[in-house]
Amino acid sequence: MLTATCKAAPNIAVVKYWGKRDEQLILPVNDSISGTLSTDELSAKTSITADPTFTEDKMWLNGTEVTIWDNDRLKNCIEYLKKIAQEKLADKSILNYKLHICSENDFPTAAGLASSAAGYACFVYTLATLYGLENEELTGIARLGSGSACRSIYGGFVQWKSGELADGSDSIAVQIAPASHWPEMHVLILVVSDERKKVGSTVGMRLATETSELLNYRRNHCVPKHVEEITRAILNRDFPTFGEITMRESNQFHAICLDTYPPMIYMNDQSHCVSHFIHKYNEKAGEVKAAYTFDAGANACVYLLESEVAKFVSYLNAYFPNNIATNDEYIRGIPVQVNSLNESEIQSFGVVAPLAKNAFKYIIHTKVGEGPQRLDDSESLLTSDGNPKNLKS
Ligand code: DP6
Repeated sequence: MLTATCKAAPNIAVVKYWGKRDEQLILPVNDSISGTLSTDELSAKTSITADPTFTEDKMWLNGTEVTIWDNDRLKNCIEYLKKIAQEKLADKSILNYKLHICSENDFPTAAGLASSAAGYACFVYTLATLYGLENEELTGIARLGSGSACRSIYGGFVQWKSGELADGSDSIAVQIAPASHWPEMHVLILVVSDERKKVGSTVGMRLATETSELLNYRRNHCVPKHVEEITRAILNRDFPTFGEITMRESNQFHAICLDTYPPMIYMNDQSHCVSHFIHKYNEKAGEVKAAYTFDAGANACVYLLESEVAKFVSYLNAYFPNNIATNDEYIRGIPVQVNSLNESEIQSFGVVAPLAKNAFKYIIHTKVGEGPQRLDDSESLLTSDGNPKNLKS
């Protein structure tokens, strides 16, 4: 019996992936860049066991059995990884063993983070580890699960190169810098209260690629410039430039959504209040100290340096007061020392009334982290005979 257990984290794009040039192979129309979050606060965990006595491939997701072979994306990941294993492994007998796969993630559903990126990155990394292939190029395989998953194969700051070839072999992710290059880079996820049902990324991208007139302009003129500038900002640890491009990118992505016909709206009134608040905060500070970015949902992700977190959250609490703000559950993850603002701080900020009451369900405080990790077998989600430890009744 062979077994491996690994965990991987979601990533938050600062140059957005939106639009595919090939839907089957999941090839994007433009490059994208993200920070991979620490697995300490949010992660997907997968255990895979291969054994000659197993009679069929089986998979359990968050405690419920799912059918593997109905899912083309999962099927593609397994088939491509087995193809590499065929080429690389001296002893190929393990490839005939059936697999038991168990996956769980600890994402609060309301956080609206694409659990698919961490989920597929974790799945591909775990299967590769089981076969001893964890040091091979895995991003192109994770990409077949979900485009953004390829960026979660590495920690730190990662660029997914769109590539040009029709077979997608040059559409892979590379690390720009590990998390240790800029360990002060923290992230706050502001989970907004009224999440409405929205168009999923795959459908949204298809419509945008077919109908948005601005999408081509963005691809040809804006993204190449943003990629170059933000890469330099990351390498130089230049937060103001990093932050400005991050916000411009988010705004441009949502402009493409609005330019899609019929338009797609992901941000809501609270999202716009957060954006307004952050511009005001930066204006007061005299430079960009915090940068919002919004994906295909209303929640805000805020990039900021560790030294700015306490002050930022103190101002945030003053302008977005919450009945449960004193509760430990309100700010989750890395602890934050929140201070109450005095009257003159409130006056000088320039916004008189609170922007919105109880706008957030809670806030997650995390940071950019080191990427997927193998865990000890004692942490496996599967029992020694290959059945899930946690099953939903
Ligand atoms: C808005 O990777 O979820 O988060 O490839 O269809 O699975 P598929 O889409 P997905 O799209 C993520 C889009 C985004 C921006 C980004 O992460 O770059």
